[in-house]
Amino acid sequence: MCALAVEEVVQESVRRFLSKPRKMLIDGHWVDAASGKTIAVYNPATGEVLVQVAEGDSEDIERAVRAARRAFESGPWHRMTPSERGRIVWRIGELIDEHAQEFSELESLDNGKPLKIARIADIPLASDQFRYYGGWATKILGNTIPFSGAGEFHAYTLREPVGVIGQIIPWNFPLLMAAWKLAPALAAGCCVVLKPAEQTPLTCLYLGELLQQAGVPDGVVNIVPGFGETAGAALAAHPDVDKVAFTGSTEVGRLIVQAATGNLKKVSLELGGKSPNIVFADADVESAIDGASDAIFFNHGQCCCAGSRLYIEKSIFDKVVEGVAENAQEIQLGAGMDASTQMGPLVSQEQLERVSSYAEAGLAEGAEAICGGRRFGDRGYFFEPTVFINTKPDMKVMREEIFGPVVTAAPFSDLDEIAAQANDTPYGLAAGIWTKDVAKGHRLAQKLRAGTVWINCYNVFDASLPFGGYKQSGWGREMGHEVIELYTETKTVCLKL
Ligand code: NAI
Ligand code: MG
Repeated sequence: MCALAVEEVVQESVRRFLSKPRKMLIDGHWVDAASGKTIAVYNPATGEVLVQVAEGDSEDIERAVRAARRAFESGPWHRMTPSERGRIVWRIGELIDEHAQEFSELESLDNGKPLKIARIADIPLASDQFRYYGGWATKILGNTIPFSGAGEFHAYTLREPVGVIGQIIPWNFPLLMAAWKLAPALAAGCCVVLKPAEQTPLTCLYLGELLQQAGVPDGVVNIVPGFGETAGAALAAHPDVDKVAFTGSTEVGRLIVQAATGNLKKVSLELGGKSPNIVFADADVESAIDGASDAIFFNHGQCCCAGSRLYIEKSIFDKVVEGVAENAQEIQLGAGMDASTQMGPLVSQEQLERVSSYAEAGLAEGAEAICGGRRFGDRGYFFEPTVFINTKPDMKVMREEIFGPVVTAAPFSDLDEIAAQANDTPYGLAAGIWTKDVAKGHRLAQKLRAGTVWINCYNVFDASLPFGGYKQSGWGREMGHEVIELYTETKTVCLKL
């Protein structure tokens, strides 16, 4: 099937995992799709098929939701003591670390990202989510509330799990996105039906086996791979799902909201972005150049928070743009499993076509590519790191999310102008500021309509830092304490003394 992939796999357990079609996890059992159908999972470095995976659709979602409901109503998960539950969630993190090499290989093969990046970023960040929220399980508190009305009352709040959660995740950080969603939901005592992206289901399915080993009871987490239009849509619309948590395109985010109206389920959304990255003349220019490069080229630009609009103060525009282009040209493209690779392929043929068509639109509208601008090679889904100059605010490449290694650069001259330019987008996920003037950095951070502002850094993540979008970049915040709100309901209890 895929000679190259299997040859480069080091771990015997990964070879075994790829050697037969993978099933879905429902109610503690690994089962085929009710339809018997499978999805081919591709290696984006070669375009060859890695393995087949059960293709869930509405019937499988139905079975999975029923299992999650049963587990929630009768099962042990939210009745377990918070300490026991926390220990199991923590244990999931430990198991991920013990299998970090297997996860890294699977992630690299499936998504295309360099093995070493998966090993130092995706996998440890994912395991850390489980440790962080393992700790939260014992710290989800209500309040006692002083009462001012007539009479004597004792009033307090409880925070209880929302119930059955549908989680729909994308392909850019397959395991990490599963961790962002599962860890807090489990800590809060919820039961879950998780639908991985059709392009990248492998690490989620591998995780499913570890969840069982860690002691997560049957039915508490069900994992149903499938396409968005079938399995995803069925989950979003299901009348017995209490909440849906989604990460993906803004376009599908809208469909999720519509699908949720039937039973008015709760919805949280983490959507697209077109994040500004702003370099002032008083910045440490070398670190700004490297930071601006990393902001767009990390994960091949397939980051919702990618610093895709680079604004540079006029006096240092040429220097910074040339520096970023130089970095771009030095990036070694290749298969993720190859040790010398610094940037892998885009995730799919579809994404290659999408990114290519944006680059063509940029050129057609008069932007100039000082490096890159086209597909790299003729095998796999590689795209050259690209820097556009001579951009105008109304160009497609300046307004729409490209989700590839393509940055647009524009000069600016003063602070008031830059805040308005940066905010001139329907998105509001993240922003970057590079300056040695701390007051200026903080002042601008307050003016930017974005869920995260990085100053003199970019792409810095920690389980403790809330992440999410203003405007059309989403609803709600994941991570930190804030995500606990998304997975709990507040109950007010009022007793007459
Ligand atoms: P997508 O939004 O279609 O896919 C994300 C997830 O949603 C997948 O699991 C998919 O199966 C599911 N999905 C798709 N249609 C659905 C529906 N009707 N109902 C329920 N679930 C559905 O994103 P896609 O097509 O993979 O990528 C297109 C663009 O979306 C990218 O170029 C990028 O701009 C953006 N995107 C943003 C991400 C982010 O992290 N915010 C992640 C992935 C894509
Ligand atoms: Mg789509």
